[in-house]
Amino acid sequence: MEDRHLLISDVDGTLLGDDRALQNFVEWYGQRQDRLRLVYNSGRLVSSIIESIKTTDLPAPDAIIGGVGTQIREYPSNRDIGHWPSQTQSWQPLKICDLLSEYPELEMQPAEFLSDYKISYYVADALEELLAEMRRRLEEISCPVDLIYSSHRDLDVLPRGVNKGTASAYLASYWSVPESNVFVSGDTGNDLELFNNGFRGIVVGNAHPELKTLNSDLIYHARQSYAAGVQEGLSYWLGN
Ligand code: GLC
Repeated sequence: MEDRHLLISDVDGTLLGDDRALQNFVEWYGQRQDRLRLVYNSGRLVSSIIESIKTTDLPAPDAIIGGVGTQIREYPSNRDIGHWPSQTQSWQPLKICDLLSEYPELEMQPAEFLSDYKISYYVADALEELLAEMRRRLEEISCPVDLIYSSHRDLDVLPRGVNKGTASAYLASYWSVPESNVFVSGDTGNDLELFNNGFRGIVVGNAHPELKTLNSDLIYHARQSYAAGVQEGLSYWLGN
């Protein structure tokens, strides 16, 4: 078993958003780097996160989970870690796009945001009924998927069982880090699944209502926002 801790954090609106707070976080993390592994976990694809590492103060991580849990790569080598996603036999992107093209309210996101296992749309203020109907109709044509809706705008269609949380669990287990040593942080709906895997959670102060209402002994609601909220949560969980 690894005795190092692992921080798996969302990027936009969580670590990024307040430059000053990020600088403080970088300094704090720098003093603990030998005990704390760092993983970014974003809705953006890995290539886009690598770009952000180069152009912002984000510290170099040990790995990056990109595309809402559909990619797991080592950093900086950019090599795949393990075999993920593992369950993709029923993933049929053409059939999925075909059925969803019947919904005029869905606008496909630009091609650079899509990948082999992630189809994403924009749809304003989607109701749960609409999402449930899409899930049901996709199921009927033998396309079981996970639909993840966040920020009142982004709809991600992913292979069933693939999301930020399950990808994090896969990585933690791959590295033999027990779940009680894993901290996760986020701010919007696509981070929800992060808080469902027995990890120690941190919801930053600026989070959307979709996370603010979570209530569990394993979730710490930070008073501070962005990277300062992550740091506050880590101090809480690490007891310093
Ligand atoms: C990022 C991705 C986008 C996705 C959203 C929510 O903004 O670029 O494709 O829909 O996260 O997961």
